[in-house]
Amino acid sequence: MNRIGVFTSGGDSPGMNACIRAVVRTAAFHQVEVIGIKRGYQGLIENEMTLLNVKDVGNIIQYGGTILKTARSAEFLTSEGRQKAFQNIKNAGIDGLVCIGGNGTYAGADVFYKEYGVPSIGAPGTIDNDLFGTDYTIGFDTAVNTAMDAIDKIRDTADSHNRVFFIEVMGRDSGFIALYSGISGGAEGILVPEIMSDYDDLIKQFNDKSKRKKDFSIIIVAEGETEGNAFEIADKFKKQFTHFDIRVSVLGHIQRGGKPTVNDRILASTLGSAAVESLLNGETSQCVGIVNQELKLTSFQDAINQHKKISQNMWRLSQILSA
Ligand code: F6P
Repeated sequence: MNRIGVFTSGGDSPGMNACIRAVVRTAAFHQVEVIGIKRGYQGLIENEMTLLNVKDVGNIIQYGGTILKTARSAEFLTSEGRQKAFQNIKNAGIDGLVCIGGNGTYAGADVFYKEYGVPSIGAPGTIDNDLFGTDYTIGFDTAVNTAMDAIDKIRDTADSHNRVFFIEVMGRDSGFIALYSGISGGAEGILVPEIMSDYDDLIKQFNDKSKRKKDFSIIIVAEGETEGNAFEIADKFKKQFTHFDIRVSVLGHIQRGGKPTVNDRILASTLGSAAVESLLNGETSQCVGIVNQELKLTSFQDAINQHKKISQNMWRLSQILSA
């Protein structure tokens, strides 16, 4: 391979820049050129490409967001869109791709290889940490730290006013951010889509007056919680506990930005570099990840079809500690 392409796709996550930097510098180490593709698959279709050299990725490791920008491309889901993308790849002389993103990113790269034979390796970039094939995704650690920081601040005011706060954190279909920020933020309750009985358990806990000596409470709600969003859950809760002064706070996109933490920078650097070397070793249609501290390649098919579960031990810990 003489020339590879790199792009970020789907929701951005802190550490994507560190990953792009690692891709460019590892490729340069192997005398391979890198083309940066803007706005993910959409930029591939619209031919938004630029040569990236070692200097172009200097002074970016500390920034959130992505210098390549990102998009969720509906056009790439069509065969016409993919045909245009392939033509642009051919014209640019790109021999392989490093795709940084989540499930949708992997699915796009998988179908692209099957249709046009363009080899690709994925690197897990999403704050949700919901990707199979890696213990942690790039951006998760930063997002959780941001959420925990916000919880600490809300705790101050919840305490002063003796209020019950429902704090909604991101996680479209998964409870990783909720679980980790809930445990680290000392929450009294955590609601995640993976646990069906969580709302009933919370009610039981609040009904058990012998246990409830606290004047205020923090309850973390994952965005994807099956019981509803934080406002709906707070309304329902208020009907049962009319005497509580309840407030809702939705943390939202603040969780997607900011300086990446040490963990995210190291993870992004390791995985960006590994993605390039895997591609150069002839691998394709796989994503890189760290599982039990070891570098691991997982097929796109497994990464897409298998569901990463939250740890039952951590869930149990959250229940013990929130009592
Ligand atoms: O996938 C990351 C994520 O931040 C989810 O937690 C959230 O549901 C979604 O992206 C929001 O996407 P958008 O920024 O496109 O609204």
